[in-house]
Amino acid sequence: MQIIKTSSYRKLSKKANEIVVDAVFKNPNLVLGLATGSTPLGLYQLLIKSFKGGKIDFSKVKTFNLDEYYGLKKNDSQSYSYFMDKNLFSKINIKKENIHILNGVAKNKKEECAKYEREIKKAGGIDLQILGIGADGHIAFNEPGSLLKSRTRLIKLKEQTRKDNARFFELKKEVPKFAFTMGIATILEAKKIILLAGKNKKEIISQVLKTKINPQIPASFLKLHPRCIFIVEE
Ligand code: PGA
Repeated sequence: MQIIKTSSYRKLSKKANEIVVDAVFKNPNLVLGLATGSTPLGLYQLLIKSFKGGKIDFSKVKTFNLDEYYGLKKNDSQSYSYFMDKNLFSKINIKKENIHILNGVAKNKKEECAKYEREIKKAGGIDLQILGIGADGHIAFNEPGSLLKSRTRLIKLKEQTRKDNARFFELKKEVPKFAFTMGIATILEAKKIILLAGKNKKEIISQVLKTKINPQIPASFLKLHPRCIFIVEE
């Protein structure tokens, strides 16, 4: 695992933007794994800027988002589908058919997850996965206790996560209790991973670096990946 320390959130986002722009330049058909939350917002703003400046072309890029709240429709303003559209997709030239996000209101939950895994495989696997990290060490919504072999599935969110994410909702009780998430095994199959962590994640990042690989700190599984970079704000 490589660690890149940056002195500001702006520099962290800039570094991540450079990596994505370079990856799409080298492979215009890149399969890009995307994350939601506050941390990647700086990256998304820079990607939009890079696109407007002619430095990146998303016309052949395929994306797969890590997770989606269970029970929220695509057009719900709290859904991750809505978030991605508002903060990135509506401002770049990505094709609608190349965007993949789990359907939070899928009737057949198992099939929705199996279909997502099939779609990732069909696309040739994820080339570059962007990750954030939860205060409890989750990656995507793989909460503590998630296993190395876990794949895309419905998961019960921990109270800590619901509390952390309550800032996006009017009331905490509105934060869904369940979510669909790619599994640890799904994430580790990405060819390259970059995890972004601002200074508010200092404590959990130092725990991840110190700890042995264990399911109580799901991000520790990233130590098993040969091409994983943590870009952290000091
Ligand atoms: P954040 O969320 O970027 O909003 O802190 C990260 C996460 O929970 O994975």
